[in-house]
Amino acid sequence: FAFTPANQTWAEGQITKYPEGRQASAIIPLFWRAQEQEGWLTRAAIEHVCNMLGMPFIRGLEVATFYFMFKLEPRGTIANIQICGTTSCMICGAEDLVAVCKELIAEKPHTVSADGKFSWEEVECLGACSNAPMAQIGKDYYEDLTPDSLRDLIARFSKGEVPVPGPQNGRYAAEPL
Ligand code: FES
Repeated sequence: FAFTPANQTWAEGQITKYPEGRQASAIIPLFWRAQEQEGWLTRAAIEHVCNMLGMPFIRGLEVATFYFMFKLEPRGTIANIQICGTTSCMICGAEDLVAVCKELIAEKPHTVSADGKFSWEEVECLGACSNAPMAQIGKDYYEDLTPDSLRDLIARFSKGEVPVPGPQNGRYAAEPL
């Protein structure tokens, strides 16, 4: 693993923000940038960041495995779909969304689809409960989902489109549907 030249420069800049002897404090942003670059946080990336910060690999691994936001296995190249499974979303149909993911992506969560494009997982509340059920796809929230609208989103992402995030039922449409 190596950061791209731009990311390497950025990472070195991050490290200078911390007082002498506290460089290890830069580990979270550096891990995050490595994950953005590779799509997931590889062992080689963890080693690289630890070397940059002068800390043992095991300490870096402790951080990487503590935070759910760090993905230690490959994810879909287009998107990792995070289905909220907490109370509001569960009551409003999250299980039906999970069923769509199982059908279209992979039977088990944290598994990349056969075409490599998608992976999925169930997560805890993402704070958009009033628009349940919802999912985070990539970095955006897609809300007021139904099995059909999730199928449509996956199909459009698969074609390279980036559907408009937010409610998918016209909740905020200017005119009543
Ligand atoms: Fe799903 Fe809060 S319960 S966003």
